[in-house]
Amino acid sequence: MRLAGKSALITGAARGIGRAFAEAYIREGASVAVADIDIDAAKRTASAIGSSAYAVPLDVTDLDSIEQAVSSVVTRAGRLDILVNNAALFDLAPIVEISKASYDRLFAVNVQGTLFTMQAAARAMIARGEGGKIINMASQAGRRGEALVAVYCATKAAVISLTQSAGLDLIKYRINVNAIAPGVVDGEHWDHVDSLFARYEGLQAGEKKKQVGAAVPYGRMGTPQDLAGMAVFLASAEADYVVAQTYNVDGGNWMS
Ligand SMILES: NC(=O)c1ccc[n+]([C@@H]2O[C@H](COP(=O)([O-])OP(=O)(O)OC[C@H]3O[C@@H](n4cnc5c(N)ncnc54)[C@H](O)[C@@H]3O)[C@@H](O)[C@H]2O)c1
Repeated sequence: MRLAGKSALITGAARGIGRAFAEAYIREGASVAVADIDIDAAKRTASAIGSSAYAVPLDVTDLDSIEQAVSSVVTRAGRLDILVNNAALFDLAPIVEISKASYDRLFAVNVQGTLFTMQAAARAMIARGEGGKIINMASQAGRRGEALVAVYCATKAAVISLTQSAGLDLIKYRINVNAIAPGVVDGEHWDHVDSLFARYEGLQAGEKKKQVGAAVPYGRMGTPQDLAGMAVFLASAEADYVVAQTYNVDGGNWMS
């Protein structure tokens, strides 16, 4: 029960990695706001994972929506101790085909959403005066570019940079900002990635997943549960002296 009595807000928690983090936080004693743009899915997830979870509508590209989500957590739980900036979108295209609409949408969700959700959560944490923990979801894609993945890679590099700056700025309030950089994690996100690679690389459905899984030193793609231990650690008091870091949890894909 390393998070007993804590109140967490996880963006994009209706499915995938965010959902696994919500389940892990509840097991550790926290209450969790399952915040997502897909509110129906968020409600289904919250009711499936336990009475300490509740759904909150949130579009991280909309500053009013962010304010409302943070204030509804503070009203309901009386406090906000942990934010996980997990919501993100993926797209893929050769440089000569990238559309402005795709660029705008990915930066709006992945970068702007991360920054302004972090800002709103930090304001609530500072007002309470008891510090907090903020965990941003980066990616191995933020560590280096990839031929077809320019925009997503750039957004995740920005998340790593924002984590460093916010981590340095907010630690004076005892708010720890850190990030997790997963490698390849199976689920609906990667179903989408696989279908995009199939189109651009002429692969059969499922082939890209096999390729990336076989290339992981651990020997397989990750699962959302593989990341949950790091997410609990970074949200707990054990991470009080961990500041502005991005941790690779990727089966050995990347070393830094
Ligand atoms: N799956 C992977 O292989 C992988 C690898 C590296 C990093 N990541 C990162 O981990 C995080 C979670 O990934 P996942 O695989 O669980 O993704 P996912 O696509 O399965 O889930 C993302 C969730 O975010 C929600 N969302 C989308 N736009 C939103 C918005 N504007 N406001 C609020 N919610 C919104 C979606 O409805 C969905 O529930 C993301 O930041 C992703 O970039 C994933």
